[in-house]
Amino acid sequence: MAELLKVNNLKTQFNTDNGIVKAVDDVSYYLDEREIVSIVGESGCGKSVSQLSIVQLINLPGKIVGGEVIFEGHNLLKYTAHGAEMRSIRGAKIAMIFQEPMTSLNPVLTINQQLTEMLGLHLGMGGEDARKRVIELLGLVGIPAAEKRIHDYPHQFSGGMRQRVMIAMALSCNPRILIADEPTTALDVTTQAQLLELMKNMVDKFQASLVIVTHNLGVVARYAQRIYIMYAGRVVESGTTKDIFRKPRHPYTIGLLRSIPRLDEKEGIKLIPINGMPPNLINMPPTCAFLPRCPYRIEKCSKETWPPLTNLHDQHYVRCYVNTEEKIGEPATR
Ligand SMILES: Nc1ncnc2c1ncn2[C@@H]1O[C@H](COP(=O)(O)OP(=O)(O)OP(=O)(O)O)[C@@H](O)[C@H]1O
Ligand SMILES: [Mg+2]
Repeated sequence: MAELLKVNNLKTQFNTDNGIVKAVDDVSYYLDEREIVSIVGESGCGKSVSQLSIVQLINLPGKIVGGEVIFEGHNLLKYTAHGAEMRSIRGAKIAMIFQEPMTSLNPVLTINQQLTEMLGLHLGMGGEDARKRVIELLGLVGIPAAEKRIHDYPHQFSGGMRQRVMIAMALSCNPRILIADEPTTALDVTTQAQLLELMKNMVDKFQASLVIVTHNLGVVARYAQRIYIMYAGRVVESGTTKDIFRKPRHPYTIGLLRSIPRLDEKEGIKLIPINGMPPNLINMPPTCAFLPRCPYRIEKCSKETWPPLTNLHDQHYVRCYVNTEEKIGEPATR
């Protein structure tokens, strides 16, 4: 498959009164055409900032201080955030769906007005053509009686339905990439599953690629082809979904997997939470950020800086000094 997006050594920081928050610290990843990739990690690890940086939606005190975002042969970071080039890409070629649709939908405009505006802005579509397209899009994402509902306001839809509207809006300009940032966290489990299924079907239909951002590794197992695990602003492990689930190698990934219920495990297996708190991203020590919580840590970990991402095989990379493969099943402290 051809590569669609390549992010190299991305660094985004927030200059706060308390110090510099290294929200995204040297993150690299890629996305192929028609691929579904997931970015997973706990709250505050830099998932959203890494995605918002791609489309330059970082506001002060935030700043992208390094790296490249290569899309269709151009480094998007060379464009100014609000210039014509970025505006023709953001929302059109690279579309985003956010966690809480009420923050992205305008409460005083009907769904028809909002979708028509998008179609006019990016595709120059108007009048009857636009109205038909809006109805078609809402039908595609499973809004019943779309021709009537287009005149409703966002608050007249349920949470799940609003997310469907967001998906329709994101797809309205035939994007190459859809970035879904925790789109289902606020919803019940059944609706979550339906929406993920819908997004998968829609990116198939639109021949787009999908990035699913989530803190829940369990959610993406069925959908993502590859997974990037983030911790404290960095990628600590990446690989195919099979690598991550069958042969996790970073202690944090191992911890994440032990803390979610698995259908493929014997009954009676206890879920084990990861002890301790996520680190504060201000003034981090140079050593591995997971060290204070790591049950597998060895002496070297507290003496050396964070290890580089090392290739294990094919697509599988890990940022850890410990040979966890030997240690799985006998963690030092649990
Ligand atoms: N405007 C801001 N000012 C200061 N720090 C910020 C700002 N926005 C984000 N950060 C910090 O950047 C880090 C990464 O934030 P980000 O929103 O990417 O986390 P996340 O992984 O998406 O978390 P969540 O799962 O809660 O959405 C966090 O430590 C956060 O406190
Ligand atoms: Mg987030």
